[in-house]
Amino acid sequence: MKSKKITIAIDGFSSCGKSTLAKDLAKKLGYIFIDSGAMYRAVSLYTLNNNYIKNGIIDEPALIESLKDIELYFELNSTTNSPEIILNGVNTETEIRTPRVAEVVSKVAVIKEVREKLVLEQRKIGIHGGLVMDGRDIGSVVFPNAELKLFITASTDVRVERRHKELISKGIDISKYDVKFNLEERDLIDSTRKESPLIKTGDAIIIDNTKLTREEQLNEAFNLAKSLIIL
Ligand code: C5P
Repeated sequence: MKSKKITIAIDGFSSCGKSTLAKDLAKKLGYIFIDSGAMYRAVSLYTLNNNYIKNGIIDEPALIESLKDIELYFELNSTTNSPEIILNGVNTETEIRTPRVAEVVSKVAVIKEVREKLVLEQRKIGIHGGLVMDGRDIGSVVFPNAELKLFITASTDVRVERRHKELISKGIDISKYDVKFNLEERDLIDSTRKESPLIKTGDAIIIDNTKLTREEQLNEAFNLAKSLIIL
């Protein structure tokens, strides 16, 4: 039996388990896993660290001018077996997950030039297929010809609960109210922005994981992928 390496695009709202699924699925298929959100978060961290955000307002011309100085790549952590983002030579995987970055990332991600740079890099990574990438515009813009497109959803309560638990486990003291506020704000900006808004494409398959375990969700996605891979 012949198998081919396909591209799998996973999109959906914030904190609905896209990266967990993408990572699990890539591992099971022996594919590369890329969390495109980490790239937007790293550019946001760079923006913060360079003081291009004042009173919540981004100095867009300054950021756009500096985009050429931002070098991003992923490095595999051999202990967790997960790719971690390197921003200008520094591993920023932990820092990009903090509320400080979450508060601004969707505002940075609306900027056309930021998206153009990152989409170009994402396409380069996926040129040979054999990739699972998660984000907001993967099936609609980055890989519109992806063989399998999944759109992940979960109830807001479940998403808030999961993200809150994750942040607390990392030692970040944050209330559920603040987590919910950030999720809803990001979802609104991400789905209403002019440049590549989050949409469910017509050919994407919905997986609602509100009541699914991590394993059940993985099996559902794996079965869909398997039917496309085995020729
Ligand atoms: O996936 P994650 O929640 O880490 O993404 C952080 C933010 O990055 C999103 O809320 C969105 O604003 C932006 N993003 C995007 N396009 C992607 C991935 C993430 O606009 N493909």
